[in-house]
Amino acid sequence: MTQPLHVIILAAGQGSRMKSRLPKVLHGVAGKPMLHHVIDTARTLDAAGIHGVIGHGADQVREATPAADLHWALQAEQLGTGHAVAQALPQVPDDARVLVLYGDVPLTGSATLRRLAEAGDDTLSLLTVNLDNPEGYGRIVRNSAGEVQAIVEQKDASPEQRAIREVNTGILSVAARHLKHWLPKLSNSNAQGEYYLTDIIAMAVADGLRVAVAHPDNAFEVQGVNNRVQLAELERWHQGREAHRLMTEGATLMDPARLDVRGEVTVGPDVLIDVNVVLEGQVSLGAGVAIGPGCVIRNARIADGAVIHAHSVIDGAEVGEGAQVGPFARLRPGTVLAENTKVGNFVETKKAQVGAGSKINHLSYVGDATLGRDVNVGAGTITCNYDGVNKFQTVLEDGVFVGSNTALVAPVTVARGATIGAGSTITRDIAADELAVARGRQRNIADWPRPQKK
Ligand code: UD1
Ligand code: CA
Repeated sequence: MTQPLHVIILAAGQGSRMKSRLPKVLHGVAGKPMLHHVIDTARTLDAAGIHGVIGHGADQVREATPAADLHWALQAEQLGTGHAVAQALPQVPDDARVLVLYGDVPLTGSATLRRLAEAGDDTLSLLTVNLDNPEGYGRIVRNSAGEVQAIVEQKDASPEQRAIREVNTGILSVAARHLKHWLPKLSNSNAQGEYYLTDIIAMAVADGLRVAVAHPDNAFEVQGVNNRVQLAELERWHQGREAHRLMTEGATLMDPARLDVRGEVTVGPDVLIDVNVVLEGQVSLGAGVAIGPGCVIRNARIADGAVIHAHSVIDGAEVGEGAQVGPFARLRPGTVLAENTKVGNFVETKKAQVGAGSKINHLSYVGDATLGRDVNVGAGTITCNYDGVNKFQTVLEDGVFVGSNTALVAPVTVARGATIGAGSTITRDIAADELAVARGRQRNIADWPRPQKK
C-alpha cells in the first residue's frame, strides 16, 4: 500500500435521542468516550492523518479530546454525511486513501478496517452487514450479476429495495482524488434533503470503479449508538469480549458477566477473579493472583501470587509477590508494597513504600511514609503527615514495632529495631533498638467512690 491513509471521523451530529447535555460521541464505552475509541482504532492503522468532523458541541468535543495528531474540521450545519466528509477533504492530499469512520460507532476492529483500507486505487470498498431487521439503514443494491450498483436510503427506497437485508454500515474507503471529484456533485434532492455520502457508490459505478464489499467479523463492530439502550448493549458486548479474552489468557472468572474492564488488563496464568470486580486503566495481574469480590483496581500492578481480599480499592499502586491486601483496604496512588507484605482491613495507604514482610494489619492510615523490612504497624496507627499546609515524611526502618493507636507526627524517623509503646504520640526521632513510650502514665486509685445520683 503506497497511498497514505487519511481517516475521517464523522462526529458532528446532535444525538438528540441520548437526551443528554454531553455530546453523544463523548458518552463512554468501557469508561472511554466513544470518539476516543474510534481515534485509538484509527491510530492502529498507521494513518498519515486523522480528521474529526465536529459540529454539535464542537468546543466540548475538542476540549475532551486532547490529541496533537488530530485535525478538526467544523461542520457548522449538519447537511448530510457527504457534506460532512467534504468539510475535512481540503486537509487531505489528493494522493491519499480515505477511510470514513463514525464517532458513534466505537468498536470496529482494526482487522476489519485494514481489509477496507488496503484496496487499490480503482476500488471503492464498503463495509456491509446482513441484518434480519434492516429497518432504518441504507440498502445495498446489487445487479443480477451480484455487483453493487448503489446504496438507497430507507426513506428513499422502493418496497422491493426495503426488502433487501444487506445494509450499509456507513464505513467505507476510497481514494481522495475520487471523493474530491464526486462530493461537489452531490445533490440534496432526496427524502431527507441531505447530501448523502452514500450517493457516491452509484458515481463510482458510473466511473467504472470496482466496488468491493467486506464484512465485519461481528455485527457489534458496526453497531452505532443512537440512545442509551444501544450504548448499554455495546458496553455489555465489549465486556463479554474482554471477559472471554481474559479467560482465554488463563484467568478464572467466577462470573464472566460480573466483571467490568475499563482499560487495558493483562493477566498471568491461574488468575482468579471473583464477582463484581472493576478493573480500570492499566492493570496487570501476575500469575496466580486472586481478586476477591467487589474490588476496584485502577492503574495497578499486582505481582505473582498476591491476594486482594474482598472490597478493596487499589489505585495507582504496586503490590508485590505474595502480598495480602484487604478485605476493605484502600491503596492510594504511590503505594508500593514489597513481597509478602500484609495490608489488612480498614487500612488506607498513600505514597507509602512498604518493605518486604511488613504488616499493617488493621485500621491505620499510612501516608508519605517509607517502611523497611519486617515492620509491624499496630492497629489504629496514624501517620500525621500534614500540618495543614505541607506534607512530611515518616520513616520506619527495618524491624520497627509500632504499638497500637500510635500517632507518628511527621517528619519523624524511627530507626532499626525500635519499639513504640501503644497509645504513643511520637514527635521526635527514635534511635535504633530504643523503646519509646509517649502517653500519660496510668494511675490506679484504690476504693474509688463513684459519683452518686442526687
Ligand atoms: C447513515 C447512512 C446509511 C447507513 C447508516 C448506518 C448516509 C446518507 N446514510 O444513515 O446508509 O445505513 O448511516 O448507521 O450516509 N453526521 C455528521 N454530519 C452530518 C450528518 C451526519 O457528522 O451532516 C454524522 C452523524 O453524527 C452520525 C453519522 O454521521 O454519526 C451518520 O449520520 P446519520 O444521520 O445517523 O445517518 P443515518 O441516517 O443513520
Ligand atoms: Ca445513524
